[in-house]
This record gives sequence, C-alpha cells and structure tokens, in this order.
Amino acid sequence: MCGIIGYIGSKEAAPILLQGLRRLEYRGYDSAGLAIQDGDTLARVRSVGKIENLAARAATEDLPGGVGIAHTRWATHGGVTEENAHPHTDQSQKLVLVHNGIIENYREIKEQLGSEHIYNSETDSEILAHLIGEHLLESTAPYTKEHLLKAVEEALKQVRGTYGIVVLHKDIPNCLIAARMGSPLVVGVGDGEHYIASDATPILPYTKKMMFLDDGEIAILTQDAIEIQTLAHELIEKEVEEIEWSAEEAEKQGYADFMLKEIFDQPTVFEDAIRGRYDVEEGVGKLGGLNMTDDEIKQVRRVIFIACGTASHAGMVGKYAFERLAGIPTEVDVASEFRYRDAVIDEHTLVFGISQSGETADTLAALREAKRKGAFVRGIVNSVGSTIARETDGGTYIHAGPELAVASTKAYTNMVAIILLYALQFGRAQRTTLATGQRLLNALLELPQKMNRILEQSDAIKVIAETYKDYEDFFVIGRGINYPTALEGSLKLKEITYRHSEAYPGGEMKHGSLALVDESFPTIAVMTKNQLYDKMRSNIEEIRARKGKVIVIATEGDDRAHELADDVIFVPETMELVEPLLNHIPLQLFSYHMAVALGRDVDRPRNLAKSVTVE
Ligand code: M6R
Repeated sequence: MCGIIGYIGSKEAAPILLQGLRRLEYRGYDSAGLAIQDGDTLARVRSVGKIENLAARAATEDLPGGVGIAHTRWATHGGVTEENAHPHTDQSQKLVLVHNGIIENYREIKEQLGSEHIYNSETDSEILAHLIGEHLLESTAPYTKEHLLKAVEEALKQVRGTYGIVVLHKDIPNCLIAARMGSPLVVGVGDGEHYIASDATPILPYTKKMMFLDDGEIAILTQDAIEIQTLAHELIEKEVEEIEWSAEEAEKQGYADFMLKEIFDQPTVFEDAIRGRYDVEEGVGKLGGLNMTDDEIKQVRRVIFIACGTASHAGMVGKYAFERLAGIPTEVDVASEFRYRDAVIDEHTLVFGISQSGETADTLAALREAKRKGAFVRGIVNSVGSTIARETDGGTYIHAGPELAVASTKAYTNMVAIILLYALQFGRAQRTTLATGQRLLNALLELPQKMNRILEQSDAIKVIAETYKDYEDFFVIGRGINYPTALEGSLKLKEITYRHSEAYPGGEMKHGSLALVDESFPTIAVMTKNQLYDKMRSNIEEIRARKGKVIVIATEGDDRAHELADDVIFVPETMELVEPLLNHIPLQLFSYHMAVALGRDVDRPRNLAKSVTVE
C-alpha cells in the first residue's frame, strides 16, 4: 500500500526522502514522487515504476532544500501514470499533498469546488489538495502556518473516508502539517529536525524516538518543534516512544532477497518471541499482556481468532491448539467476512486479532466490531505502536523484527509461537497436565536448532523446486494441525511464483478434487509422524494411483516415505502440536527457490502490497 515520508530540518531533504522511499518499497507500489521546498521555490518530481526511476529523474534536477514530502503510490483511484502519482498540488500549484487512504466523498467535494478547478489526475487525493487550497484562500496572504493549519482542519471536516496526509506550502517556510484518520502516521523526533512517515521503517536510520498519531489527530512540524492537536484544535500531550528495532535489522544482510533473509531469521526471532514468556517448571505459558484477571480468564467460553491471509493460518493452528490444550471452543474468522456477518459475540468471548503490520484495514474493522459487541479483544501483533496494537485492550508483540518481503514468513512463525503459549496458558488453567505443559515447552526450546537443520537443506530444496518450476498447478495437502501448514504453503506458492495452487485436508481430496490429479498436477504432502500419519499415507496412495507426482515432507528417519514420493524433504521429529513451527519452512524454501528460478520479483510480487490498509 502507499507509503509516506516527510522531512523538515537543516539537512538536504532529497536524499533522505529517496532513501525513505526505498525503505518503504516493501509495502508494494507502482509509482513514486517527491516535492521539496527551498525558500520560496517548490520543486516536484514524479515517476511511474521503481524508486530508481524517480531517483534518476531527481538526479537531473537541482533539488536543494530542507523541507520535503514523498510518496509511494499503490493505485486505487486512477491508473498507474505520472499524473496520478503523488505529491498532488492544489489549484494554485503552491500547496502540495501526499495522501494514503481513500476519500469516499471525493465526487461530492469536486462538485462543490466547481468547474473553475482544473485537475491533472484521476485521484481522490488531488481533490483533497484542492479543497485545502480553497480553504486557505479564506485567510489573507501572506500565509502563515496557522492559516495552513486552519485550512487543513476545515477541509478535513468535510471529508469522509480514510487518510494519512502531509501537506506543505511554497509560501509557508518551515512547516509540515500531517493528519491521520484510518491511515497510520508516525512522527520521528530528531534534534533540530523531524520526520513523518507511514511507518517507522524509513525513520529508523535517523531516530528511534517516535510518536504515533491516533485517528483524528494533526501534527504540526517545524524544524524545532512538534505540536499535536485534535481536528477540533485542542492541544494533545503525546508520549514519545523509543523503538527497539535497529535500522540494520531491516537490511538484507547479504541475502539475495528480504524473503530469504526473513526465512533464515526464523530460529533467532522465534527465540525472541518466546523469551521470558514461559515457565518450564510450572509447564505454563506466561504472557503478561493479556490484561485479564483470573476470574475473567475463567469466564472465557469461546475464542475467536480474527485475521487475514497468513495471519489467519496462524489462527487456524490456534484453533487446534486451544481446543486440544484448553478444551475451549475456538473459531477462526477471516476478518473481511467477520466484519459483515453479524457474528454472535458475548462477554464470554475472547477475540484475538492477529496481524503482522497491525494496520490491516479489515482486521482492524472486525476487531472494532467485536469490541462493540462486548468481547474481550486482544492483539497478537508485530509492528510496535501500530493501530491494532493500540486499539486492543492488551495482547502480545510477536517480536519478529521488521518483515519487509511482502510474503510473510518469520511473522507467521512467531504468531504461531505466541498462540501456542497462549493455548498453554489457558490450557494449564483448564485441563492440560503439568507433564504435557513441560513436554510442549521443552519441544519449543529445541526448535531453533531443528529449524536450522531444515534451513541447511536450502540448496537441496532448491534443486527440487527447480525440477517442478514448469508445472502450472499444485495441490498442497496436510491433515490435522498440518492442514493450516498446507494452506500457508499453498498461499506462499501462489503469492510469489504465480503458479496455481490449492490446499486441502488430505482426507478431502476424494470428495472432488482428486479428479484433477494426473501426471501434470503435482502434490506437496505434509506427512510427518503424528496420529494421522497412516491416514495421510493412504491419501497419498490415492494420488499416486492417479499418476500424480508427490513431494513429501516427512519426519527424519521415515525411510518408508520414499516408497510414496518422487521427492522427499525431511524435517526433524517434534511433538505434534509443535509441528506447524517446522513443517512450513520447507514449503517457504520451495516457493522461494521456485520463484527465483522463474525470475519473479520475490520481495515484491505483482498486484500485492505488504500492508493492506484499504478494504
Ligand atoms: O499485516 P497482516 O498480518 O495483518 O497482513 C495480513 C495479510 O495481508 C498477509 O498475511 C498476507 O496474506 C501475506 N502477504 C501473505 O504472505
């Protein structure tokens, strides 16, 4: 989704903005632009395609100045053209604006502004720029930052929809005005310089001190000061938070792609996720952020995980784990469905919203709905200070560090890790024995070295992936707690290789989908040694009998796996409940290597965005 970076200070803004845009690339975009103010001049450069196109254009222009705004656009209103790229100007061409979100009543506003307004793009954002410019005319020039602030306030009163905006004006030096409603904005607090961005990533190289704007808040930035106020002009004391992530954590560190780095990060970030959050002696998970009394915990009769995409697959692992360990009926709801289906929720329902970005619009809306209906709503989130983290009444950060590849890998691992600890926490309060609790924790503690054993097979998995790269269709099957693994593996395959893939519980194939199987339609089967091993073997036999090729993920030492498979990838043995923390890794590597072999843009697959902040 779109990204914003703004700078105000004594350094040259252009290199900071371009670097910031590069760090926002992971969000997905199709065009980019920047505007820089220097004294009484205002320069604007925009370009479709990669940031490097914009950088090349910028290099041919003289772009001095220490105040600027920049944007990566992911098209919603209007095609991918230079005219539609941000920043947009108002009628006077002196005011520039970058905008994330959607102005729902832009047609109404356009009509109201009248026919004398000439627009150069098809975007809702340009209309907002014109509206602010129009309100500025209500003040008398020479304009001041107070005039600009008033114009922004007045314009935003008329707007319906979502926005994160930053505005600057050619005739108003040393001033950036930003406002948020539904699209996140973070202020970076520097010394004699300040930053504003759609997330912390582009600010991290310069400062770790940040302020997270809430909906309905406006920030007025000058070189030496930051003022935060409401849309109704009331000043707000905003806490400055210290972000732990280092800029280096977000770099590739020698890996060819962020996705590969993030796959290899898993053993380390998994340890970060669970550290200090369990007690082996007591055999229990100890997650502090739940903010529920023992009585409230006992009142929980039902758990619902709400999430999208990969995060919903983590929730599905949670369904198996919560029901088995705690005996609490548990459901998983895809957020975009939950928000409109008038779900039955009461004060005995505990809802967990799971999100890497913490900004996914559907998840956020569904959680608000659950809260409105009286559920306990908690977050399982990666991005510190994100909207979901702040709007839920408690929960847990998963500590995966910045995940920049669009395809989620290490965040999934850490979501599952935290969910297992929650299941154990609730389970020990209900029906899980000390011995089972301890066994589970010991199995978790052995995971980092077991994950490494799988990662060491990356080159061997690459050879297998290359063998299958020309097949157009795949099944990925699993059973029980490995069914979510199959769903997740299948999503990775679609997302980054653009190959068609479908996930099924192994036992479901014979109810229709088996008809598709022939020598051109391979199946990847998760067949590790657990209670459903023999069932899974039979399901694979059914595929083999129809001449389907099979790649099997099997437990180390299972020599019989070769009888059933064209190719086998071995994973270390572990407790069944913990298998989802190992078995997805070969699937991640398989998809990654196939995508590379097919020449795909692994980190930024087509049509997708990292942070889906629109409905
Ligand atoms: O940031 P979130 O975890 O809320 O994002 C949810 C999905 O958009 C995300 O998991 C998506 O499915 C991934 N790109 C899949 O790899």
